[in-house]
Amino acid sequence: MFDLKKDYKILSIDIAETRNGKLMAKLNLKCADSENVLNAVIWQEALNNIDKAILKPGNIVKIFDGAYNSQYNNYSINDIRLIKEAKSGLDEAERKNFFNQILEEVEEFKDENLKSTILQFLFENADKVKTAPAAAKIHHNYIGGLLQHICECINIAKANIAVIAVKINQDLVIAGCIMHDIGKIFEYNLNEETFAISKNKDFQKVWINHLHWGFCWANKNDLSELAHIIASHHGTREWHALVEPMTNEAVLVHQVDMISSRLGLIQVDQLESNNQIL
Ligand SMILES: [Fe+2]
Ligand SMILES: [Fe+2]
Repeated sequence: MFDLKKDYKILSIDIAETRNGKLMAKLNLKCADSENVLNAVIWQEALNNIDKAILKPGNIVKIFDGAYNSQYNNYSINDIRLIKEAKSGLDEAERKNFFNQILEEVEEFKDENLKSTILQFLFENADKVKTAPAAAKIHHNYIGGLLQHICECINIAKANIAVIAVKINQDLVIAGCIMHDIGKIFEYNLNEETFAISKNKDFQKVWINHLHWGFCWANKNDLSELAHIIASHHGTREWHALVEPMTNEAVLVHQVDMISSRLGLIQVDQLESNNQIL
């Protein structure tokens, strides 16, 4: 039940326009001291009086005025206030460390074209690479999430290369770890006020998804083996891979991507309680 005395954590938030052009926010709220999860809405009239910066996942809030709507089985909130602000991502020093770790990996590459092309891309797009989330909802959905996902993938890949029997081109795998999701720096928009992550509609008009972007980028730079890794890293067509993995390196990047995206430091609200940085 909705309890005005209790604190709630925002699990997810989606602010969208209704059919009649008004703004509304849909929230998933978890009671701080139980497993109860509530669906709530804030209509535009109430939203106008609320600082939208407080409406972000992980924040602890209190509801000061609201009512249960039995017709929709949700709660309509009229007044909500911030109790404790969650981290919205990695801080600058953490992001710098991850970015430098990635640069050091690339500096080790023996393939000169692979090295210079990726270094040039990273320097030219450093600001976006350092802040981009790795996804809107599912995993690493916070500022610097993509960097953390890349470094998790690199570390998991290296641990695997050390113990598997088949011959693997390590440079290519590390390049795949770095570039497989890099199209996401253009695919998503990060709202700097609310930290809400949304799809970039202009990107969607031109590209199928980040795999398509990365595939074309790699081929344009004469990196066809890397292009295949990027195109296939989701594993199957069902998961929007352009093609299934056909090389050992592509299979490995697909697998480490799965591990990091399912078992890594996944959600923004875990950043408070989990200081483990791979
Ligand atoms: Fe991906
Ligand atoms: Fe990924």
